[in-house]
Parts: sequence; C-alpha cells; structure tokens
Amino acid sequence: MKIIMLGAPGAGKGTQAKMIADKYGVPHISTGDIFRANIKNGTELGMEAKKYMDQGLLVPDELTVKILLDRVANDDCKNGYVLDGFPRTIPQAEVLDNALNELGDKIDFAINVDVPDENIINRMSGRRACLSCGATYHIEHIPPKAEGICDRCGKELILRDDDKPETVKNRLGVYHEQTQPLIDFYEKKGVLKSVDGTIPMEDVFQAIVNILGE
Ligand code: AP5
Ligand code: MG
Repeated sequence: MKIIMLGAPGAGKGTQAKMIADKYGVPHISTGDIFRANIKNGTELGMEAKKYMDQGLLVPDELTVKILLDRVANDDCKNGYVLDGFPRTIPQAEVLDNALNELGDKIDFAINVDVPDENIINRMSGRRACLSCGATYHIEHIPPKAEGICDRCGKELILRDDDKPETVKNRLGVYHEQTQPLIDFYEKKGVLKSVDGTIPMEDVFQAIVNILGE
C-alpha cells in the first residue's frame, strides 16, 4: 500500500502517518524528519536544507527528490510506505509518478488532512518535538507524561525553529501557493480522499482506517 499524506503544515500529517505505519506495517517516510536528522548531525545536506527551512521556504526540488527516491528504493519499502511531506510541489509529484510508472506501480491513496489556517498557528506554537526519536506532542492536546521530556526515549523536547509564529505564516503561504495544487493533481488521478483534521486525532485516524480498510 502506497500512501501520500497531504495537508498544511501542522495539519497532523506526521501524527497520522505514524499511526498508519504502525497499523499497516509500512515505513513512515518524512522528508522533514530526514532533513532535521541531517541538520542535527551537521551534514552538508543538513546545512543546505536549514537555510530554507528556517525561513519557512521549501528545500529545492533537486535536493529533495533525490533523497526521496533513494529512500523508497530501500528493501523495507517493497510492500509500500506512507509519505509525509512529499511531494510538496507539482514537479516533485511528477518525478514520483514517473519513477513509479517505470516500475508498473502507482500511489494507492493521497489522504488530505484538512485543517483551516486559523487552527494551525495555535497547534504549531504548542507542538513539542523529540529530535532523537521523532515523536511529537502538543502541550495542551497531547502532553508528554513529564514536561519537556519524551515519553518514548527520555530525551529533551524542543520547539522546532520553524514553529515560531512568523515562520509558520510563511510556511502557510508557501503551502497554499506550491503544495495545495497537489489536491487537484491527485483528485484527477482518482486517488484523493479528504478527512477532517480538526477533530481529535483518534477520530481522524478512524476516518483514515475507514478509507484504507481494516
Ligand atoms: P515538515 O517536517 O514536513 O513540516 P510541515 O509540512 O510543515 O508539517 P509539520 O511537520 O509541521 O506538521 P504535520 O502536518 O506533520 O503535523 P503534526 O502531526 O506534527 O517540513 C519542514 C520543512 O522541511 C519544510 O518547511 C521545508 O522547508 C522542508 N521540506 C520537507 N519536505 C520537503 C519537500 N518535499 N520539498 C521541499 N522542502 C521540504 O501535528 C502538529 C501539531 O498538532 C502537533 O503538536 C500534534 O501533536 C498536534 N495535533 C495533531 N493532530 C491533532 C488533532 N487532531 N487535534 C489536535 N492536535 C493535533
Ligand atoms: Mg510533520
């Protein structure tokens, strides 16, 4: 099963993608997480990506596409995957489509997690992330057991640099301009499904399971 998560920054793509990955036994692939891991490890790719990410801009397609295609060529992707944060532009979607076509394959579902802009800014300022294991929390909706500490691995939780309100506004602008057109792109392919992302995360997940099947 090959799934793409669509939605604004903070819509809950990562939250839902992790739950999908657990239930259906496919890897969760987040280009944002890959970039953040590279930044943390001080790689050349990380340094380059950081320039864009800190401003809320997209990392150039040339860099992003190569990383993603390498990742989905791994053995653990044989039975499918859930992509979170890729594609984010029409050219990225076309590259992915062509690569899959060559393998006689295709995307099965593009799930759009729909959340209006008004809800987004609050969510982002309340998000806390663990850079060690990738877990995310929300100080009001999904708090960790001990403040500032990851339940899963015990490391420190941080507010992502790009979650400051000014940067979030930029990210929303970039989303509407460059990423939202993908909703039409996948609608035309007949694989688009939308879910309401404003309800509690367990209910969002149930709506997704209803689409994907038990
Ligand atoms: P990326 O890491 O992908 O960030 P994003 O798309 O902006 O999305 P987020 O991770 O911020 O939000 P999310 O939808 O995953 O929400 P989450 O589940 O955490 O990308 C970061 C940057 O990397 C980009 O800006 C770009 O520069 C670069 N990049 C990455 N991929 C790229 C690409 N393909 N091309 C070019 N550049 C790329 O949830 C948010 C919060 O809400 C959390 O606190 C969560 O706990 C809470 N929450 C979730 N669901 C609910 C709910 N139902 N109710 C209440 N709270 C909820
Ligand atoms: Mg995410």
